Amino acid sequence: MISDSLQNAINEQIAREQYASQLYLSIAGHFELRNLRGFATWMRRHSVEETSHAMKLFDFLADRGGRIEVKALPQPINHFQSVQAAFEAALDHERQVSKDIHKLYEMAQAEKDYSSHVLFEWFVTEQVEEEKTLEEILEHVRLVGNNNGMGLLLLDQQLAAKTGVATAAAGRES
Ligand SMILES: [Fe+2]
Ligand SMILES: [Fe+2]
Repeated sequence: MISDSLQNAINEQIAREQYASQLYLSIAGHFELRNLRGFATWMRRHSVEETSHAMKLFDFLADRGGRIEVKALPQPINHFQSVQAAFEAALDHERQVSKDIHKLYEMAQAEKDYSSHVLFEWFVTEQVEEEKTLEEILEHVRLVGNNNGMGLLLLDQQLAAKTGVATAAAGRES
């Protein structure tokens, strides 16, 4: 049986992962509008990945006999000034999530809840990877500059290749 405090904190984290999924979907929409299909596909996949994080927590709570409380989500940002601003919004959110995960980790430690501890350890490692990936993309976007069409198209094609999209025009998965 899991403690009420950990149960509530995990429910909050499920909502934050779902919010991340919504935010990345919103960013994907911005890239779709600009016909940057490599960026858009990458963000769509990241959105799905955030849902899988929420479900990992959901399953854990269910397995531990906890009560799942699905929460209302805040409206994500729907307008971005530039490609750079969109990636900055994503990285800001990941950094916030890392802080939240660290708090959960500390809670599990304080309560000597070893199975929660192991679960949060996975998330701590995952956040390192997520921040690193976004920092790398953002740094490349900053390097080429927001108004450099050729540079952005090149980065878009690079991400398209990474996500297995053969051409920028074939970004939609079907
Ligand atoms: Fe996540
Ligand atoms: Fe993430």
